[in-house]
Amino acid sequence: MTARFVRRVLPVAALFVLLAAGDALALSNGLARTPPMGWNPWYSFRCRVDERLIRETADAMVSSGMAAAGYRYVNLDDCWMARRRDGNGRLQGDLARFPSGIRALADYVHSKGLRFGIYQSPGARTCAGYPGMRGHYLTDVRTFAAWRVDYLKIDWCRASAERHAPAIYANLRRVVRSSHRPMVMSISNWGRQQPWIWGPRVGHLWRITGDISPRRAWPLVLGVVDKNNRLRSYARPGAWNDPDILQVGNGHLTETEQRSIFSLWAVMAAPLLAGNDVRTMSDSTRAILANREVVSVDQDRLGVQGRRLLSSRGREVWSKPLVGGGRAVVLLNRRPGQALLSFDVRRLWKGRASRYRVRDLWEHRTGVTGGYLHVRVPRHGVAMFRVHPVGRLRLARPRRG
Ligand code: GLA
Repeated sequence: MTARFVRRVLPVAALFVLLAAGDALALSNGLARTPPMGWNPWYSFRCRVDERLIRETADAMVSSGMAAAGYRYVNLDDCWMARRRDGNGRLQGDLARFPSGIRALADYVHSKGLRFGIYQSPGARTCAGYPGMRGHYLTDVRTFAAWRVDYLKIDWCRASAERHAPAIYANLRRVVRSSHRPMVMSISNWGRQQPWIWGPRVGHLWRITGDISPRRAWPLVLGVVDKNNRLRSYARPGAWNDPDILQVGNGHLTETEQRSIFSLWAVMAAPLLAGNDVRTMSDSTRAILANREVVSVDQDRLGVQGRRLLSSRGREVWSKPLVGGGRAVVLLNRRPGQALLSFDVRRLWKGRASRYRVRDLWEHRTGVTGGYLHVRVPRHGVAMFRVHPVGRLRLARPRRG
């Protein structure tokens, strides 16, 4: 290498590499290093949202222990805005339902130690027919920044005919960046045009499918889970596959199924957005959503999306690597009746330990096994564990002869 090459060419090449890396990591802005946690009103309230609901929900997030368990974002979904923009072309909250204005509402949510999220759509109208962002990207994002919005869900209704989703979301991302307000960017285009490929550059989370309609929730949940398993390599800190709002506590799944969806979301490192009425939730719903042991699997700092290891006639084993070398394990029974599920945890590591510590994350009990877990799991149910080898792992010796 000549001295001239080192002096002139290398710095330029290094600059290009840095710029390229900067673009690839465009959203490594410190937000959503673990999957976002919060609340969304869509499945429980649809368009029946007003400032009282949001304030009471913020209160309940704190008093119920949800905030302490990690839930942070209190979000509006569709229908929050007035049917018309104001005289300056700016969005405003519906005057009857949000008489104090959206900024005052955001301030209230912030005063509770929580963060505030809002919804828009890039087409002329939102899914529910309210004013969309078309022709107003800059104005709307500046309005959101002035309102101190922390989380922005961008939907896809009436936008599909317009342009390419990656270009629209990238453009929005640029506008958000120019507002200097850090906002989590939630891409909600239902998995169209493979958002897992371009999403990490422009958003922190992206929906992978259409809505999980509460009425058909269980089969839809299983379909989303199957799809998400194939997308696991795209998830990493700051960039998450979003299988949709949780169906816990809205009356459409059995308690067993609700525990299953929560465990699966956690092992898949999915955003945890509660979709129920947290002001009136039952103790059993609260025990599911605020199960800190399960939440800690979802929020594990390693940021790896877990995967299905085994599947046999409706019996499945899922696993997720955790900080410190442990593994989360979910045994799922998709069958129509109770089933005995067995799994040899020694399969989870290359080396062998003589014993493994096993923490049951729903029973809150700790035990020890030499290898096998055997559990009776009810129909549509799960058992969930955190497993750790005791002592040092030794590589299994190759057999002679
Ligand atoms: C779409 C989205 C939902 C919700 C509604 C609001 O269906 O996927 O999550 O935001 O729009 O109209």
